[in-house]
Amino acid sequence: QLILDTLDKSSTIKDTRTITIPGSDQPASTHDAQITILGALNSLQSRDMIKYETHEISSHVLTAEGSQIVLNGSHEAIVWGALPEKGTGSPLPIPSLKKAVGDETAKIGQSRAFKSGWITKEGDGLVKAVSSITDTTQNDLREVDSTGALAAGEKLLADYRKRKLIAQKKGQWFTVHKGTNFSTSTAKPETDLTAEMLASGSWKTANFKKYNFEAEGIPPNGGAFHPLLKVREEIINIFLEMGFAEMPTSSFVESGFWCFDALFVPQQHPARDLQDTFYLSDPVQSLPPPKAYYDRVAKVHEHGGYGSLGYRVPWSDSESRKLLLRTHTTATSATMLYRLAARCRGESVEGLGDGEFKHSAGKGDGDGFRPAKLFSVDRVFRNETMDATHLAEFHQVEGVVADKNLTLADLIGFMRVFFSKMGINEVRFKPAYNPYTEPSLEIFAFHPQLKKWVEVGNSGMFRPEMLESMGFPKDVRVHGWGLSLERPTMIRYGISNIRTLVGHKVPLDVVENSPAVMF
Ligand code: PHE
Repeated sequence: QLILDTLDKSSTIKDTRTITIPGSDQPASTHDAQITILGALNSLQSRDMIKYETHEISSHVLTAEGSQIVLNGSHEAIVWGALPEKGTGSPLPIPSLKKAVGDETAKIGQSRAFKSGWITKEGDGLVKAVSSITDTTQNDLREVDSTGALAAGEKLLADYRKRKLIAQKKGQWFTVHKGTNFSTSTAKPETDLTAEMLASGSWKTANFKKYNFEAEGIPPNGGAFHPLLKVREEIINIFLEMGFAEMPTSSFVESGFWCFDALFVPQQHPARDLQDTFYLSDPVQSLPPPKAYYDRVAKVHEHGGYGSLGYRVPWSDSESRKLLLRTHTTATSATMLYRLAARCRGESVEGLGDGEFKHSAGKGDGDGFRPAKLFSVDRVFRNETMDATHLAEFHQVEGVVADKNLTLADLIGFMRVFFSKMGINEVRFKPAYNPYTEPSLEIFAFHPQLKKWVEVGNSGMFRPEMLESMGFPKDVRVHGWGLSLERPTMIRYGISNIRTLVGHKVPLDVVENSPAVMF
């Protein structure tokens, strides 16, 4: 406001050091005052209210020692003052002088006072050699303090700089002119067009701030991929280079039918308990699955079929229609296999074009079957007690291969190649049990740091109960394997607590500083 008012009167401010700040009778000549003025100038210039030019100057300020001299006098003047006049008292011995004025002042002061002929030796002590002195050092420093310069010239300034009594300081002052938007009102221009302005019509007269297309914005402190994303990317690339196509895994909510029943998981299986699976209360049940298929699945559970005895317990439709957060991505695999079998059933399933199973374009035997290699990497949910290695949600990597006459050796071979591409060359397989696969194999990898075998995945050949009720011909074999994304990621990044990797406690620097990982 002061700048605007001054400009209003005089149209130009030649030198901003001459502005007098209200309430003080001193002009704003100090460095700090000019810095404050610069802030105001920039803000006014951005609104085109003024224009200004900058003038560089170099000025001087006192150091702490220089300020002391302005207050108490130079070292030599202090020494001179401490001594008796010649002939009037007993000469002051040097130890007493040191005591009186301090070691530092005694040392520097003596030598300079001698040089100026202010003091002299008498016996073992010192006395004044002259009856009065002029403390030029103090006077000069006073001048520097108030004007930032010395009329006596640059040579003397350089001398004081060398003695570390003053220091050079770059400064600026400014010449100010009126700008195209000059006014004496500093009302802030509007930065947003609001609904209120439109409603009241005040936008017509409002003063809008101009866009600054040159603004560089605040530099972001670097985006970074989360370790899970990087490892996921690598795994996806492994699948893609092995000719797999990605399954659509966006359905986090599945029915008991697709997550369990279609996979021949008995309806009383502990995995389906509330303690292990999150169920939805709303909506209460899923849409009905395809009728004929549903009937075949229900029948094989209850009474058997396709060479199976079945579980021989009453079938529960409500159990099948429960909605839940999928506990494994094998729910999606089941859905996709059912769609893959559509041609074998002589149906055309909507959305199942040749594009969907790009890699299953083989000729087929006239039974509609085409081989497929499918994969997914996505989120699953389990009602786990959370600890350093377990969360209620994690990511599953899943691969499924469907072809005629596949054997267990094909599954083992596939996994050897797959894991070796992940850098895991030493793998072992252990017989295991899954309700939906037979045989089933757990995969163990040798962990070179931990020096022990750790479980890295689970796999198996899908059961005929599952495949044949989908409509696949008898000679079609499907094998699959699954692993978590978190486990290999934690091993890769040396993370021992899963909460460092997922959730609200993830330290951002772990993400920002994590190395790019190649298996
Ligand atoms: N669904 C299994 C799991 O959650 C993994 C798996 C997938 C096993 C496919 C066999 C076949 O561990």
